[in-house]
Amino acid sequence: MQEESTLTRARAETISYHTQYYTKHKLFESGSWLEVPDVGVPALIERFAGKPDIRVLDLGAGVGRNAIALAAALPDDTRVTCVELIQAATDLLGEYATQHHVSEKIIVVNEDFEKVSFPENEFNLVLGISTLEHCSSQDSIVALIESAKKWTREGGMHFINFSTDRKVVDHVTGESIETFVETRLKKDEWLSELARLYQGWDIEFLGSLPPYSEVLMYNGKQVVWSSNEIEVRAVKKG
Ligand SMILES: C[S@@+](CC[C@H](N)C(=O)[O-])C[C@H]1O[C@@H](n2cnc3c(N)ncnc32)[C@H](O)[C@@H]1O
Repeated sequence: MQEESTLTRARAETISYHTQYYTKHKLFESGSWLEVPDVGVPALIERFAGKPDIRVLDLGAGVGRNAIALAAALPDDTRVTCVELIQAATDLLGEYATQHHVSEKIIVVNEDFEKVSFPENEFNLVLGISTLEHCSSQDSIVALIESAKKWTREGGMHFINFSTDRKVVDHVTGESIETFVETRLKKDEWLSELARLYQGWDIEFLGSLPPYSEVLMYNGKQVVWSSNEIEVRAVKKG
C-alpha cells in the first residue's frame, strides 16, 4: 500500500492529466490516443456481433473510446455500463454517445470503480483497458477483479490490460524522474497474479503486449516515458 500522501498526489495527477487530455482532444481525433479504440476491440465486436441482450461493463471508460465503438457495432438491445471517476469525462461521454447515436445503449456511472457494485451474473463482457493501475493498492485490484468475476455471466469474458514497470527519465541526461501512479506494478508479479485470479476460467491470452515508449513533456521537461503492458483475456466457464 502506498503512503496516503503519495496516493493522494497520484490520484490528483491522474485526474488532472485525463481532464486536460479529454478537454484538449476530441473522441476519435487523429493523432491522439483517442483516435481509435483499443487494438483488441474489433475482435470483441466480432465475437459479440449479432448476439442478443449483450451487457458490457467498462471500468474506467474515459470518454467512451471503446464503449461507444462497441455500442455502435452491437445490436440495439446491447447495454454498455461505463464507470468513470472524472465527471468532465462522463459529461463528454454522454455528449459523444448522443453524437454517435448510441445514447440509449450507454449507461454512464460517474463513480470510483472501487466503490461500485452490480448484481451477480450481469455482464457478458468486462473491460478494464489501461485503468487498473489507477486502483489505490494491489489488494484493491485483486478485490475489483474478484468482484467483476462474480458480476460476469457464464461464457462471459474479461478483457483487461494495464501498464507495469513505469520508467521515466530525462530525455537529455537520462536521469530518473519521479512520477506518481496510484499502484506500482511489476510485470512478472502481475502475470502470476492474473494466472492465479483466473484459475478455473479459460484463459485465451495472458501475456505481454508491445512495450510503450514515448518522448513527451512532463512538468516542463522533455522525458522518455516507458512501461511494459500486460493483458488477460479470459472466459468464465459454463
Ligand atoms: C488511460 S485512461 C483509459 C480510458 C479508457 N479505458 C480508454 O481505453 O480510452 C484511464 C481512465 O481511468 C479512469 N480512472 C482512473 N481511476 C479510476 C477509478 N478509481 N474509478 C473510475 N475510473 C478511474 C481515468 O479517469 C481515465 O479516464
